[in-house]
Amino acid sequence: MRGNWRTLVSITTWLLLLELSGIGSKESCYYIFFTHANWTDARPRFIVNMTFSNQTGIGSVTTINEEIASPVSRILILQHSSKEKPRTIYNATMKLCDLQNVFNSVPLFKPVKDNMLKQSNYSLSCPLVPGTYSMGNMKVSPKNPLLSLLYQPKHTFSVKGGLFEELGSRGRLRPLSTYFMAGKVVKRSCGANE
Ligand SMILES: *[C@@H]1O[C@H](CO)[C@@H](O)[C@H](O)[C@H]1NC(C)=O
Ligand SMILES: *[C@@H]1O[C@H](CO)[C@@H](O)[C@H](O)[C@H]1NC(C)=O
Ligand SMILES: *[C@@H]1O[C@H](CO)[C@@H](O)[C@H](O)[C@H]1NC(C)=O
Ligand SMILES: *[C@@H]1O[C@H](CO)[C@@H](O)[C@H](O)[C@H]1NC(C)=O
Ligand SMILES: *[C@@H]1O[C@H](CO)[C@@H](O)[C@H](O)[C@H]1NC(C)=O
Repeated sequence: MRGNWRTLVSITTWLLLLELSGIGSKESCYYIFFTHANWTDARPRFIVNMTFSNQTGIGSVTTINEEIASPVSRILILQHSSKEKPRTIYNATMKLCDLQNVFNSVPLFKPVKDNMLKQSNYSLSCPLVPGTYSMGNMKVSPKNPLLSLLYQPKHTFSVKGGLFEELGSRGRLRPLSTYFMAGKVVKRSCGANE
């Protein structure tokens, strides 16, 4: 799928999650449909524009006008149904500079990083340096096992997250960009949408 998501790092987190969840292939294919999406940014320091589309995914343009010393990414993925209370699928808070160290020190992650960079011109530098970064057509494979995990008939999912900057040593977080997306995962035979 191609779509339009939130900011730089939530995108990074999402991609990382997808990549790390493995590349198993299944008989069925899964497609994401967005029913709602919105986001905020911290203009004029940090400007985000996103575009969403059901079949093509998420694209974004992020303009960073001031260096961000300590960026922190948060993402919460929930699965919803009318009967039960929301189920947490993924809930993580990550300091990007730490993540950067992991990327640089663990050779296993090199393909993940390369693949991420292929889909955007985000630099993955830490601190985040001023510039304009764009990502078009973030594609999630219809065979990605994460989608089969998210798929449940009559269930919907939501993704809530953001990119924050850590202020001082006490870890207070100030939002740079937050986003919210809701949608559903649809199961179809492979090839129908490819
Ligand atoms: C985005 O939509 C969600 C769900 O409708 C809502 O709770 C949230 O306040 C909205 N955020 C913004 C920034 O509009
Ligand atoms: C965001 O991007 C869309 C698609 O490229 C464009 O039509 C729209 O004007 C942009 N919005 C802002 C606020 O830049
Ligand atoms: C995606 O499809 C759903 C349901 O078919 C529709 O409600 C929604 O508006 C669509 N979203 C976009 C971004 O096209
Ligand atoms: C997500 O994790 C945070 C920090 O560990 C925790 O405070 C929060 O309650 C969790 N939320 C959900 C819905 O699991
Ligand atoms: C990323 O791509 C956009 C659009 O193609 C371009 O305007 C921007 O200068 C590029 N940024 C960097 C850091 O290369």
